[in-house]
Amino acid sequence: MALWSNEYHQEMSNSAYEFNQSIVIDIRLFDADLRGSMAHAQMLGKQHIIEPDEAKQLVAELSSMREEYANQTLQIDLNEEDIHSFIEAELTRRLGDIGKKIHTGRSRNDQVATAMKIYALDEVEWMIDALEKVMLAFTDEAQEHLETIMPSYTHLQRAQPITYGHYLMAYVEMFHRDYGRIKDAAKRIKETMPLGAGALATTTFPLDRSYTTELLGFSNYSNNSLDAVSDRDYSLELLSAFSILSMHLSRYSEEVIIWTSQEFKFLSLKDTFSTGSSIMPQKKNADIHELFRGKSGRVFGDLMGVLTVMKGIPLAYNKDIQEEKERLFDAIDTVKMMLSLLPSMIDETIANKEVMYKAASTGFINATDCADYLTAKGLPFRDAYQVTGNIIQYCEETNQTLETLSLAEYKEEHALFEEDIYDAIDLTACVKRRQVDGGPAPEKVQEHIDKIRSLLI
Ligand code: ARG
Repeated sequence: MALWSNEYHQEMSNSAYEFNQSIVIDIRLFDADLRGSMAHAQMLGKQHIIEPDEAKQLVAELSSMREEYANQTLQIDLNEEDIHSFIEAELTRRLGDIGKKIHTGRSRNDQVATAMKIYALDEVEWMIDALEKVMLAFTDEAQEHLETIMPSYTHLQRAQPITYGHYLMAYVEMFHRDYGRIKDAAKRIKETMPLGAGALATTTFPLDRSYTTELLGFSNYSNNSLDAVSDRDYSLELLSAFSILSMHLSRYSEEVIIWTSQEFKFLSLKDTFSTGSSIMPQKKNADIHELFRGKSGRVFGDLMGVLTVMKGIPLAYNKDIQEEKERLFDAIDTVKMMLSLLPSMIDETIANKEVMYKAASTGFINATDCADYLTAKGLPFRDAYQVTGNIIQYCEETNQTLETLSLAEYKEEHALFEEDIYDAIDLTACVKRRQVDGGPAPEKVQEHIDKIRSLLI
């Protein structure tokens, strides 16, 4: 029987009731709802809306239910409409009339919004911690590769020399922005505790919202009751942050997939993070990275799902909003799985330094340095660029690299070339000389690493 059935509203048809149910999905709000319900009961007692002793009994029983649930001794009746209905029904079974008082001055609308925010804040706390571990894992790996020369790319064409450490720290920057976005969303959730908004227009009982806000560890309560019960921006903000984070994870995965191919071989995956083939014995596939790439699509879908649910909903609560939960839960589960795998994944990814260096030695990735050399000697950059273009053309024709050209050949292209051209185009020197803040010079990457570590540790 639904919580709300009475003389006026008789039972629903079984199929409609089942369609309307959400308990299988929102069962995971059990703990969050109990915390919200305890705070509400405590406040009702403090305000003498119910007897203080009744409030005590409610809180005690809710806290036993919480313990029983944690010990897996509480039987949850999955025939209830949702977890919130179950909690009230169970309290009533245990406490009789006192149990029936828990819903005084409250509606499932503010109750659900509150439970969702409590739940989301718990998950966000876990994620913030996990993201810190991810950033530290990438940073530790970068520390090992401050001098590991590799080519960088634009348009997937070899561009300029960098280090693997510089490359890894680029992802740390992305994760650091993700971290900021998630923390920022959490801050706004904390500012808007919904309990007290009732169904949509608060209540005639003298609730003390500051008290429940404090009990629940929020920093403030919501300002408008219509908004409080129908606002799902917090979910959308988190889903947006998770989508961007998943996009970063997908880009990283894509790169690992390409770089572990026989064609690149920049990286190798240990067997712990690759799969074999049922038919081709030579295979070491990056399935986990491919799933990361694939699961980003799933998280984007969750974001689009909630945006689409919300876009046509008139104020205030409408049942459509129930659909938001499953999408947010799915995105949280997906992102959590990826974040918990990532630190060991990066640990189990081996950089093949010689292959990277060899790739950096072809493709004229020090051509800019050759042009810069002439520019530093007084030739306007555009002219230096043209001269270097001619040199590359000559190298291609004679099957040479900038390193193998003789000084006489250089001088033929321009009189400004001297013996020190060879230092200027040495790959390690090219990286070391990029001393601009944010660049690949080992000192600069070290500064970045130190900055991130000081923020996190
Ligand atoms: N299970 C519902 C949800 O999660 C509870 C809200 C019920 N409120 C209502 N007015 N029907 O959204």
